[in-house]
Amino acid sequence: MDEPSIRHKLLSSDLKTLHRPLGEAGSAPYTPISLAVLLPGHRLTFDLYLKVAQKGGQDFAYVSFLKQEESWEDKWQDLLAQKGIDLLYFLNKDLESVIAYLNNYLLLLKHERMKVSPGLLAVFSEHLNFSIRLALQSSRLGPVVQQAKGQVEDLIDRLQHDPASIKLVWQVLYHSYNLYNHSLNLCLLGMAFMLFLKRSSRETRDLGLAGLFHDVGMTRIPQEIIAKEGPLTAGERAEINQHPEIGYRLLSKETSLSQVPNDVLRLSLEHHENADGSGYPLHLPLTRQHPWTRIMRLLDTYESLTVSRPFRPAHKPFEAIKIIREARGPRGSMYDLATLKNFISFLTAN
Ligand SMILES: [Fe+2]
Ligand SMILES: [Fe+2]
Repeated sequence: MDEPSIRHKLLSSDLKTLHRPLGEAGSAPYTPISLAVLLPGHRLTFDLYLKVAQKGGQDFAYVSFLKQEESWEDKWQDLLAQKGIDLLYFLNKDLESVIAYLNNYLLLLKHERMKVSPGLLAVFSEHLNFSIRLALQSSRLGPVVQQAKGQVEDLIDRLQHDPASIKLVWQVLYHSYNLYNHSLNLCLLGMAFMLFLKRSSRETRDLGLAGLFHDVGMTRIPQEIIAKEGPLTAGERAEINQHPEIGYRLLSKETSLSQVPNDVLRLSLEHHENADGSGYPLHLPLTRQHPWTRIMRLLDTYESLTVSRPFRPAHKPFEAIKIIREARGPRGSMYDLATLKNFISFLTAN
């Protein structure tokens, strides 16, 4: 099917499309991109595909929707929105040109100094999401941390000038789990929570960066273990539990300390430490943890619980809070209850 006929079919018929990626297709040759980050009236620098169900929904295919050099128009956005579609796909090999496209879009937005909107947040987070994909594939972490720092600072500046905009963060969080979506969600949630707590720009930035890079060690865990659907063996669990130390090493070795703030390093190492000292890798009690470890630990779990996974649907916010509140280790609550109380205030305020 060529593109004009795909678009025609979308207008007139019941072409079965898939609105969400199926599970985490780490090895799939296509990456989803939100329609909210395509600039109307401007030419695309990459091809766009639509994910279409086949064989009665058992299978799917990617069909060409718009070609590079064609212009993205509002009418495509409207047409797809009518069908409940908010994602298209690009070929993984085009990742760098998608990042360059979004980079230009961000420069344009920076120039216009526009207010924070869901659109601006979406461009910001997709750009970071794709940059991190690229960086984690090539292990060149230093320049990416540096670039992310600038972007996160710009966003914090905007959010601080318009405190009501903090609640918009909820509208742009990703709904399905993969490492990049999870990292972006944690960055956005972390920054919004720190601003809610009236922390400084520097602290807010560093917690946001810690959200982005805390799980970088997961990129070195074998894919078969990460993607395994059944229960993990003790050996596999032990291997996964190494990811904070691996991440810490990657961040501290491959970059200079001026690029990666010390707080970000500490949080990458400590983000699985529990309030009762039963976490890993160092089994630190609360008093010996970095003061923000309890925040990262809580947000990390909350985020993971409230997105859908291939093996279970997303938990509702109140269910996630209940699970966190009731989680107990051998020496007491696994999460810091004072932080949980603040987080509930943040949830209800937004
Ligand atoms: Fe982790
Ligand atoms: Fe995590």
